Amino acid sequence: MYLCLLLILPLYQYSSTMSFIEVAEDSDFSYQNLPYGIFSTLSNPTPRIGVAIGDWVLDVTAVKHLFSPELVEKCIDGQTTLNALMGAGRPAWTEFRNTLKKILSKDDPSLQNNAGLRASALIAANEVTMHLPAQIGDYTDFYSSRNHATNVGTMFRGKDNALQPNWLHLPVGYHGRASSVVLSGTPVRRPSGQILPSPTATTPVFGPCRLLDYELEMGFFVGPGNKFGESIKMEDAADQIFGMVLMNDWSARDIQKWEYVPLGPFNAKNFGTTISPWVVTMDALAPFRLPLEPKTDPEPLPYLVEKDSYQFDIKLFTAIQGENMTKPEVVTSSNFKYMYWSPRQQLVHHSVTGCNMRPGDLLGSGTISGTEPHEFGCLLELCWKGTKEVKLGESGEIRKFLKDGDDVIMTGYAQGMGYRVGFGKCTGKVLPAQQV
Ligand SMILES: *[C@@H]1O[C@H](CO)[C@@H](O)[C@H](O)[C@H]1NC(C)=O
Repeated sequence: MYLCLLLILPLYQYSSTMSFIEVAEDSDFSYQNLPYGIFSTLSNPTPRIGVAIGDWVLDVTAVKHLFSPELVEKCIDGQTTLNALMGAGRPAWTEFRNTLKKILSKDDPSLQNNAGLRASALIAANEVTMHLPAQIGDYTDFYSSRNHATNVGTMFRGKDNALQPNWLHLPVGYHGRASSVVLSGTPVRRPSGQILPSPTATTPVFGPCRLLDYELEMGFFVGPGNKFGESIKMEDAADQIFGMVLMNDWSARDIQKWEYVPLGPFNAKNFGTTISPWVVTMDALAPFRLPLEPKTDPEPLPYLVEKDSYQFDIKLFTAIQGENMTKPEVVTSSNFKYMYWSPRQQLVHHSVTGCNMRPGDLLGSGTISGTEPHEFGCLLELCWKGTKEVKLGESGEIRKFLKDGDDVIMTGYAQGMGYRVGFGKCTGKVLPAQQV
């Protein structure tokens, strides 16, 4: 019993010191969080590294004299993405975060007591323009929530064949399209493509997608990566993961249904993938580790076995606001803890062939669904293939799939004692299809 308690205690102590910057209890961007992003301002349009705290963005370039010269040269000066920092590895990540913790602490005078520096280095969050945090060389998406895979499998193949025989042995995934990964706030156009006009049809028609969906996911950014021909080992996997964002893997279900056999999704997924702008580090998430439950069963092959495997307790939400609605209404409330395969297992499996992973590569979790209907992570599951109506709160509106003009708003946070480690927003509006 006591041993159990010890095992689930957080592995990291969080600092008891506070910041001199006041942060509301329900702000996503606490002093315990300090996520990194790339921003610019009207007066200085050069994209550069920023750190979110409360309603402020700290311009790292403006306080670079407080970092070590090596870190400035390698990861800060002239950087318009986080790729260099991602590639610098765990020791640099720790030094970078510790320096920020110190600069923003109420016990440190260097920024706090320098009014001029504060005025230039701390920018109101509503005055910045955010940019993609990394130059994403490659994007891969997994399918690692058992509830989601079982639900989708049941709809398409029946209860008895819901999970394919490989699913419990490897993290199933597909190579996605990095060019169409866009930042939160970017509108996404309804795609057109080949669609079967009825359930019994055997030849397709061409037209706008009728079954447009969101998928509630999280993505992680790869750190230094591995050399071509050399795989990442499980014991090194945690040091290869830089941080996480929210992700909407927009999906055209009717295009998907016709095209996916036998090589998986193609055009149904390549017209847009939206990510949130602030990258939350694994250090910030460490206090929210949970033992992986249920454990992978059957035990995977040895290369995928992680001693003391863990997940994270991150609450995740999706809301929809139609063009005639006055406020967003939540349709999915899920949690990252429902993942069956961990990000470390996904990364190890991806590179086991010697496939080289590079700094800034983005790996998606797959739709994250819980067991209860309100925890389902996409409309396909919520409307059960179009057989049920999804109520948008008390607005009087219903959906099965997304309509033109819908805003899809994803949020998520880990709840600490009196503070949050949150992700901000991942949003996108559906634009009408282009005339083709
Ligand atoms: C919003 O209202 C307008 C005007 O009544 C209507 O034409 C449009 O279809 C409505 N949009 C949705 C998504 O229901």
